[in-house]
Amino acid sequence: MTHKILILPGDGIGPEIVAEAVKVLECLRQEHSLDATLEYGLLGGCAVDALGAPYPEETRHQARAAAAILLGAVGGPKWEKLDRPLRPERGLLAIRADLELFANLRPALLYPQLAVASALKPEIVSGLDIVIVRELNGDIYFGQPRGIRTLDSGEREGFNTMVYREAEIARIARVAFETARKRSRRLCSVDKANVLETSELWREVVERVASDYPDVALSHLYVDNAAMQLVRAPKQFDVIVTGNLFGDILSDCAAMLTGSIGMLPSASLDASGKGLYEPIHGSAPDIAGQGVANPLATILSAAMLLRHTLNTPDQAERIERAVGRVLDKGLRTMDIMAPGMIPVGTQAMGDAVVAALAE
Ligand code: IPM
Ligand code: MG
Repeated sequence: MTHKILILPGDGIGPEIVAEAVKVLECLRQEHSLDATLEYGLLGGCAVDALGAPYPEETRHQARAAAAILLGAVGGPKWEKLDRPLRPERGLLAIRADLELFANLRPALLYPQLAVASALKPEIVSGLDIVIVRELNGDIYFGQPRGIRTLDSGEREGFNTMVYREAEIARIARVAFETARKRSRRLCSVDKANVLETSELWREVVERVASDYPDVALSHLYVDNAAMQLVRAPKQFDVIVTGNLFGDILSDCAAMLTGSIGMLPSASLDASGKGLYEPIHGSAPDIAGQGVANPLATILSAAMLLRHTLNTPDQAERIERAVGRVLDKGLRTMDIMAPGMIPVGTQAMGDAVVAALAE
């Protein structure tokens, strides 16, 4: 079966880094180890400019018809002053909601070749390999009511609603337990159950789901403690499951442990394995168009796409090994540069990965 992959380059460095991931996919296509057609679409600021909305109807049709989506990044100063519904980030939130991509997998893996790039001591981070499973369709991100209202006194007040239904908690918990099962069978659920009712229910439901996974060791941490433990002793974690807001924050923290946000891919999956794959870093408008951005997170996102949606783990591993070989050779984009290494730009890095695929 030929799979339809929708490519959404997005804004800022998005088009540059996506072009390198496409080179990798094209290489697999030409050697017939990938049976897919690639189609292009617009999401984010570029979609606002061309079609007047960050997640236009056209893109919605394409996204619904695709088996998987590869996204660069969205956003930039050009669109920051627009009304909220027109901002590029809204496009991202809208596609996640529209396709019910509720399970966000964010691995934080430290490449041994890059241990020096971490802000933490090598002995604290070497060998680090964590997956954060973040719920992506609920919580205070989407809860109603929300808004900014004017009180009788004339003072304005902002308000949002943190809310989780039992079924939403249970389905992300199952993804997390399944993920832990394929790894070292340890799952830590993060909440704020000492203060928030939403978290109290979260903890209760996660406990209930745990009875179906007696082989997985479940623990719980409050989010403030989890943040502290992540920087104090991150290797105690294997899989972390948490809600949308806490997951947003903790996944940036975990990413930084690896020293290079430019290396980390992510997957956002629906209940049937359809997914949107994107690097966890942003659109980096400050370096856009210069050919210096690191394409590896996007290339590794394409690998996740092959693993999770196309079910071709062998091809995913090939890409991951190729990335490892390129790092072994000492090739480094600016963000992961270290003394004695070979500086390369975006395209040279992509070409090197393609070449390493054949080795
Ligand atoms: C992320 C981003 C998004 C989020 C923003 C851009 C809406 O920070 O993917 O983590 O908060 O989810
Ligand atoms: Mg974030």
